[in-house]
Amino acid sequence: MAKATKKQVKVEKKQVKTIGVLTSGGDAPGMNAAIRAVVRTALANGLKVKGIRRGYTGLLEEDIVDMNAKSVADIIQRGGTVLYTARCPEMMTADGQDKAADVCKKHGIDGLVVIGGDGSFQGARQLAARGINTVGVPGTIDLDIACTEYTIGFDTAVNTAMEAIDKVRDTSTSHERCSIIEVMGRRAGYIALWCGIANGAEDILTVERYDNDEQKIIDNIKAKRKIGKTHHIIINAEGIGDSHNMAKRIEAATGMETRATVIGHIQRGGSPTCKDRVYASSMGAKAVDILTQGGSNRVVAYRHGEFVDFDIEEALAMKKTLDPYMCDMAKKLSR
Ligand code: ADP
Ligand code: F6P
Repeated sequence: MAKATKKQVKVEKKQVKTIGVLTSGGDAPGMNAAIRAVVRTALANGLKVKGIRRGYTGLLEEDIVDMNAKSVADIIQRGGTVLYTARCPEMMTADGQDKAADVCKKHGIDGLVVIGGDGSFQGARQLAARGINTVGVPGTIDLDIACTEYTIGFDTAVNTAMEAIDKVRDTSTSHERCSIIEVMGRRAGYIALWCGIANGAEDILTVERYDNDEQKIIDNIKAKRKIGKTHHIIINAEGIGDSHNMAKRIEAATGMETRATVIGHIQRGGSPTCKDRVYASSMGAKAVDILTQGGSNRVVAYRHGEFVDFDIEEALAMKKTLDPYMCDMAKKLSR
């Protein structure tokens, strides 16, 4: 009997009452669906919800608003994040992290959902170490979070980029040109690889695989011209960059008119795809479930067809790279 009481007290101590939610790092289509799911799942569990605007910057500045079911009405279809986002250097300092935990405590936030990338999860980890129950939700168009096969925004971003590349291809073919199209991804080549396959690119350059041998590309362009190809599409990952100069060098070496197009932030905006809306909703809801079950210092992930969660440290220590099979396949398909 005494044992049961002790156990009950322990469970009560962990029970969160107020959940805070913030978005941090680069925005990603689907973040709004995740926010909506956090708010409505928390409310369904009888919890209070506070929205923290502008990521960790807003947390440190106490830019915190009460949220109800209506606060998240009419947002599931919108790109960006209604909570705004920011990059906050102060959160990388111990003083900033102490202050952020104090602000959470002051506002009664005992559970926090952080929607962002690996950097944002580092901040979440620091808050968990300071007694705030935290759960990370992977939100980035880059797909560069090792513990998960899905990140919020990637699907929309690759579809946006793919459509843009199709358009460039039309004009490239008409003018019999070479086009270098630069896509986002910071140091990761997932957007480049997926678009390269989806758009039937002749070359895909990623930080993970590119050997800096430009001569090989030049030889490839010449060889493809010989067999009658009218255009040559090169998808260049942001991590390699230098697309405009590369275009000049390639034009000089091949004699083929070459243009560079940097797609840029267009691929980070826009209405989320169905997949991004549904997966982001599932991840937001799961984050709240983890908190209500007493979990902290966790990251939601999608692996092998299931939504799962990992310890943040464990998640941050994981490594992933481009699937070699996909890379080799892309090469074979670009004949
Ligand atoms: P992402 O979350 O998409 O990886 P960033 O790397 O820009 O994006 O990180 C977003 C924010 O997370 C940073 O501006 C900072 O406030 C916080 N952050 C990043 N790294 C750390 C860290 N090592 N410790 C604490 N907070 C961090
Ligand atoms: O992390 C998302 C991302 O769009 C990267 O692909 C890119 O390198 C970076 O953010 C760009 O950030 P900013 O919004 O500061 O230009």
